[in-house]
Amino acid sequence: MCYECGPATRRSFARFLAAGAGLTVLAACTPAAPSPAAVTASAGPTAETATVGQSPEAQSPTPSPSATLARQFSLDDPASQWVIVNKHRPLAPADYAPADLVRPAVAISAAGEAALLNSTTAAAAEALFAAAARDGVAMVLASGYRSYGTQVTTYNGYVAARGQADADTASARPGHSEHQTGWAFDIGDGGGACSFEPCFADQPAATWAKANAYRYGFVVRYPWMLHPITGYYYEPWHLRFVGVEAATDMAKRGIGTLEEYFGLEAAPAYP
Ligand code: DAL
Ligand code: ZN
Repeated sequence: MCYECGPATRRSFARFLAAGAGLTVLAACTPAAPSPAAVTASAGPTAETATVGQSPEAQSPTPSPSATLARQFSLDDPASQWVIVNKHRPLAPADYAPADLVRPAVAISAAGEAALLNSTTAAAAEALFAAAARDGVAMVLASGYRSYGTQVTTYNGYVAARGQADADTASARPGHSEHQTGWAFDIGDGGGACSFEPCFADQPAATWAKANAYRYGFVVRYPWMLHPITGYYYEPWHLRFVGVEAATDMAKRGIGTLEEYFGLEAAPAYP
């Protein structure tokens, strides 16, 4: 699927930022808000996703899947593979930096710190990329770790170009990004097709990841139409490591967001 992409200026903006200042993590156009009917028709693996068109206040989060799974790792510690970072759950400390950043042995189009991941995510990424390659799918690490300082620059770039309200649908405010934990990264297809644009959803790297990433412990963190829960429009390129057990459980249950999976409130906007 592909959105009706917005004005060319947004694509131009993505290219501008991708080319400048070493910034590599960029979303492009943002789709119009969905109608409840569209959400029901397109998203619906669970009863919960059918409620996405309602106001955030009307939604009730899905209960935790099981006490055993829910208690394995902290949801608060940035060093935990289950840490939940969203607009209601800033990182603590805000300037957290992983102690074990490494460069994974995968194809990388990012430079500097953006080529790094925490060591657990790096090992899982190596398995993910190798599996994609075995299936004939080209995939590159387009952007990994981002420090608090880099997120300041990235977010401010969005605000300057698009205004704060629009920026908040695509870029996390400093101290609110999964990229700062080392547990998340963005993928590209190696050729730059639709990089950080909605049409990336139709590229082989994205369709393969959507179908298979859970086998290696990853979820597509910001799924199609679930922005009233996650706070961000669809990012088919943004993968988040949570471990094979949880990612597989989510996939089998058809649960699209970590907020639903762990029984946390929706986080559509900053308090
Ligand atoms: N684009 C994601 C939400 C981030 O900035 O972390
Ligand atoms: Zn990302």
